[in-house]
Amino acid sequence: MYRSDELLKARITEQLKEREIRPEERPAFHLTPRTGWMNDPNGFSWYQGEYHMFYQYYPYDTQWGPMHWGHAVSSDLIRWENRPCALAPDSFPDREAGCFSGGAAALPDGSHLLMYTGCRREQHLDGTICDVQTQNLAVGDGTDYHKYAGNPVLTELDLPEGGSRIDFRDPKLWQEADGSWRCVAANRAEDETGQLLLFTSPDAFNWTYLSKLAVNHGRFGKMWECPDYFELDGKSVILISPQDMEPNALGFHAGNNVLCMLGHLGEENEDGCFREETVLPVDDGIDFYATQSVLSPDGRRILVGWMQNWDTVSYREENAKWFGQVSLPRELTIRNGRLMQNPVRELEQYRTEKAERYNVRVDDGRSFADAVLSGKTADVTFEIHAEKNCREVEIRFAEGGDHYCAAVYRPEEQTLTIDRSHSGVIRDVLHTRTASVASHNGCLKLRMILDRFSVEIFINDGESVMSMTHYSDPEADGISVRARGEASLNITRYLLRL
Ligand code: FRU
Repeated sequence: MYRSDELLKARITEQLKEREIRPEERPAFHLTPRTGWMNDPNGFSWYQGEYHMFYQYYPYDTQWGPMHWGHAVSSDLIRWENRPCALAPDSFPDREAGCFSGGAAALPDGSHLLMYTGCRREQHLDGTICDVQTQNLAVGDGTDYHKYAGNPVLTELDLPEGGSRIDFRDPKLWQEADGSWRCVAANRAEDETGQLLLFTSPDAFNWTYLSKLAVNHGRFGKMWECPDYFELDGKSVILISPQDMEPNALGFHAGNNVLCMLGHLGEENEDGCFREETVLPVDDGIDFYATQSVLSPDGRRILVGWMQNWDTVSYREENAKWFGQVSLPRELTIRNGRLMQNPVRELEQYRTEKAERYNVRVDDGRSFADAVLSGKTADVTFEIHAEKNCREVEIRFAEGGDHYCAAVYRPEEQTLTIDRSHSGVIRDVLHTRTASVASHNGCLKLRMILDRFSVEIFINDGESVMSMTHYSDPEADGISVRARGEASLNITRYLLRL
């Protein structure tokens, strides 16, 4: 198979450079780039008996650069094995800025299809430069991919009137029950805010425009990125990542968010437009963006995101040779008209050394710390019962010396705050975020998935999630609880060992 110089150079670089990173300098079970920079997960798919995860990748630096697609595979969504770099910016539609985000699917003939955005830089006679985005294909066998000779397969000529050719990206494709293909891509409309375009194809190679699936009209940020669409528990679901959002009470935060729209896109919707019923944030933490989902062979809808935030990427380990992580895969369901998210059940096989404490009492003079309950890579559940006078329950983790990260529950306000500002940070970027939570029968349940460089808190069995990266001392593995006013807790901790 032909491999371009750009692809060979990336493959040699990652092979050489990944050796400079010791396993303990990476997360234990979150996927990171082999070397250099990672942003969005891409092409999350089930192909030939394995999950494939690709990602936006720049192997030459820990900053964003012309985009490649990194690649890893897994049989259980927890343990990832690297494959060689899959795509490099080596063809006309993607040569300058690279191969941007997209999806993947298994084709009926047994090959693996990648659909991605090519971003090319166009220089005009007056010297100005603009990026032009088109949709492109690559076909492969799970390791090597060749770009389709008919690229690009969707261009500005396929856009509805007023659609921008500069912001037209992140195709996500799937096959319908009748064998035909659909793809949804993000686009900037005339009003300068996002819209989602639906395309159709008989064979996944020849595409035509179908409809506007959803239109922002300036309601949720400006441009929308990384769309996804699927059916789940009797609802149609759209996921999108808006840029430039304004905060809204404790719902959305400023900047980049991920939104979930629940509604309907049935055959009755002849215009091909989604009927929106509810719009909710997908993650209330600091670091979560640009999601991708896959349908597992046993019928679960599984979601991952880039566990980062574009506005806080300057917060990082100064000398690390990798940057960017994929979130822990989450199982999605819908309950009471709400998106529920829980860690994939595959994580449970890595639980060991269970430790439990019941009815732990904490108050102003009495905190709780127990060496038996420590853990840097751990799955810890807290059931917090706040007494009437309780103003605050603070759970510290990744604690060592004066440094710690915290999750602070304020029962009277019904809020949870995550906070990494005491983890040893030396950069003044945003380090804390507060979200609304709801106790049930006086109890708030937090399942905290701790890895070396992150925490993901699943609240009340998946009603909401808060994700946050941190770069605390590798030895800092303490877990402790304190309170203002009185509270009692049940704590179950497992270490996670791979
Ligand atoms: C989202 C995003 C995508 C784009 C990619 C480029 O984080 O901006 O819209 O395809 O990153 O790396």
